[in-house]
Amino acid sequence: MNRTFCAVLCGLLLLAPVTASAEPQKLIFSYVTSSDTPTGKLVALFKKLVERKLDDRYTIEIVPEGRLMDDAQAVDAVASGEIAFAVPPVSKFGDYTQQLKVFDLPFLFPDMGAVNRFEQGPVGQQLLESMSGKGIVGLGYLHNGAKQLTANQPFHTPSDLAGLSFRIMNSDVLRKQFERLGATPVPLPFPEVYQALADDRIQGQENTWSNIYSKRFYEHQPYMMESNHGMLEGMLITNAGFWNGLSEEERRHFRYAAHMALEYGNAMSLAKGANDREALLSMKSVDIYQPGATELAQWREVMEPLWDEYRSAVGADVLQAAQAAGN
Ligand code: SIN
Repeated sequence: MNRTFCAVLCGLLLLAPVTASAEPQKLIFSYVTSSDTPTGKLVALFKKLVERKLDDRYTIEIVPEGRLMDDAQAVDAVASGEIAFAVPPVSKFGDYTQQLKVFDLPFLFPDMGAVNRFEQGPVGQQLLESMSGKGIVGLGYLHNGAKQLTANQPFHTPSDLAGLSFRIMNSDVLRKQFERLGATPVPLPFPEVYQALADDRIQGQENTWSNIYSKRFYEHQPYMMESNHGMLEGMLITNAGFWNGLSEEERRHFRYAAHMALEYGNAMSLAKGANDREALLSMKSVDIYQPGATELAQWREVMEPLWDEYRSAVGADVLQAAQAAGN
């Protein structure tokens, strides 16, 4: 090999890894709602904050509206490292931990203050780590809001729902909740719910004011009950291998971005939930039943036995901490 050729070749070989590592690593963040929701806004802020400090090393590619995958698929994709981030409802972690089922238990948290106290306490913080052995690390919680019941026909008492098909997130607690009401639970990904309601494949569903409003579920669900019977909590998650491979400094930046983005998302979620509730209350085509304490007690009586049924699955200490946060 002549010396000039060798010099050029060796130079190219040396340059190659430098050029490759100079490219920032692309990290995919998938979520299922639209970009104008609190989730969309928080994801946008997370990207901005991460890239402000680390754009020489990482860029975040946001894929909204379930265009890449639904939430359940996103959980698996984060665990396997196929994508870096997602913020699914905790109801979708059933294959990874039993403990997070505590959030699905009906009427366990009286309000968002109780949820917050539980999440920020030692047990709630430990739950962020409950899937780390299976490839998922939690970076914090998103309050999507309290769930309300909706249907295509009037209902006031639990027996009014008997025989109707209700869409659920794929969670055995939620399945049992609707079975206790005599309804038929139908697990469906979020992006398919509107069409299933329009086609009358399902006659009801449970969701937050924001999801009911932004996804226009009210067009096929004129009857609603302000039941606040459950909380739709999300968790910002990342891949454990990716997380553990970061330097301390990088982890600090990602943690800061997650914290700020979730604070922002939670504040927006609270405000948007209140606005969307008002918007639905003002619609002439929508009938929102607001039960008193006595009426709600009938619903609690049917649903609350699930607490005992799931005590050992979620852990007696976890259930006790959740109950204590509400007292
Ligand atoms: C979401 O708010 O992320 C989706 C909730 C659902 O699947 O009902």
